Amino acid sequence: MKLECESCGYEWDYQGESEYYTTCPKCEYEVKIPAEAEVVVPEEDIEKIIEKYPSERSSLIPILQESQEKFGYLPRPVMERIASHLNLPESKVYGVATFYAQFRFEPLGDHVVKICHGTACHVNGAENITETLENELGVETGETTEDGSFTLQRVACLGCCSLAPVIMVDDTAHGNLTRDKLKNALQKYREN
Ligand code: FES
Repeated sequence: MKLECESCGYEWDYQGESEYYTTCPKCEYEVKIPAEAEVVVPEEDIEKIIEKYPSERSSLIPILQESQEKFGYLPRPVMERIASHLNLPESKVYGVATFYAQFRFEPLGDHVVKICHGTACHVNGAENITETLENELGVETGETTEDGSFTLQRVACLGCCSLAPVIMVDDTAHGNLTRDKLKNALQKYREN
């Protein structure tokens, strides 16, 4: 995608994956990346969250957290509204949000697959399970499949170590996994 720096006018072919802002390679100005598709979020849903918090910098993290809880991720219109409410540049809001691993900028898939990498799962083949899942779904851990069916996440102990290796799909744990058991389990979610 072609980008043009609003500050120095430099144009370049942007190939990165950042959702909101990138840095101009020439003058290091924060350049906003145009949205690929317009995201519509009900205004009243945003306002219900915003109005609970004073226009202070200290409100930023709680608003981001509550917004993500509500929408499942941080859609661009929500980030823009948070910035205007707190009188902060959007690039600042984005910069803070990207600093914390808890915040997401893309919607989750229909099914969220959590792969346990706790000690018991690690020694019982969590890496093989991860590799199989990534190959089967065609995404890396942390990504969502193109059709929006699955999101892969890496997590610490899921609390059922005696079943290691374990994954959790939505609210259901699948344990004592082998590659075949895993493929069968995935197939059931694909059919639903
Ligand atoms: S280490 Fe995986 S469930 Fe505890």
